[in-house]
Amino acid sequence: MVPTDEELRKAVQKARRNLAGSGPLRLRAEGDFERISVPDEDCDILRDMLVAEHARVVVEVGLAYGSSALAIGEALLAQGHQGARHVIIDPYQQAFGEAGWQAVVGAGLGGLCALVAERSQLALPRLVAEGFVADAAFVDGSHVFHNVFVDLYFLRELVRPGGLVVLDDCHWPSVATAVRYFELNTGWELQQASRATRLRAFRLPDPRTEPSFESFTPFQV
Ligand SMILES: C[S@@+](CC[C@H](N)C(=O)[O-])C[C@H]1O[C@@H](n2cnc3c(N)ncnc32)[C@H](O)[C@@H]1O
Repeated sequence: MVPTDEELRKAVQKARRNLAGSGPLRLRAEGDFERISVPDEDCDILRDMLVAEHARVVVEVGLAYGSSALAIGEALLAQGHQGARHVIIDPYQQAFGEAGWQAVVGAGLGGLCALVAERSQLALPRLVAEGFVADAAFVDGSHVFHNVFVDLYFLRELVRPGGLVVLDDCHWPSVATAVRYFELNTGWELQQASRATRLRAFRLPDPRTEPSFESFTPFQV
């Protein structure tokens, strides 16, 4: 029997509880899950942001053990699986013993998720060239400045005008500096979160604006 959307959503909620409570199937190293995963309460906020957006198509950078991916899946299912699409980009699942992808598939999300096992700096431009359009993006991949900058450069084209780009770890100068460029120079607007969170959400302008090189604003934080 094909599960209903409500049954699927409940299975994802259960998978989230198991992952947050008992940890992943496999660990790279002791303490790694707590160190790199988006905490459960921030995952709830990510889910709520996407539900409020009525997001149907989400692109995610950085799967790891799957905490944020499951929260995104829960958000998509909250509005029914019809038209829902979640593209997850991460070239290093092998290092995690595939634990993140197995968590996603085990939760019943295999039908609406696709894993692109490639660096996002290479995968995102290809998605742009293919005409892929997302309502929202979640960015938690490489935290090296030039990689984050390139991710955001392509997400600016890939996320629809008026869509949302959410980032984890903006307390790192590398991440904060990259997004600051887009805030100061391309009209991305920091959104007020409903409660305290380490996530930062930016709304893209609608229509998309193309700044003049003459109006460039230096963007150091
Ligand atoms: C901080 S973890 C992501 C945690 C995840 N959001 C969660 O809540 O469980 C960073 C992830 O980014 C991936 N990553 C590193 N460099 C990347 C790149 N260039 N492109 C895409 N993913 C990358 C790593 O393999 C790792 O899984």
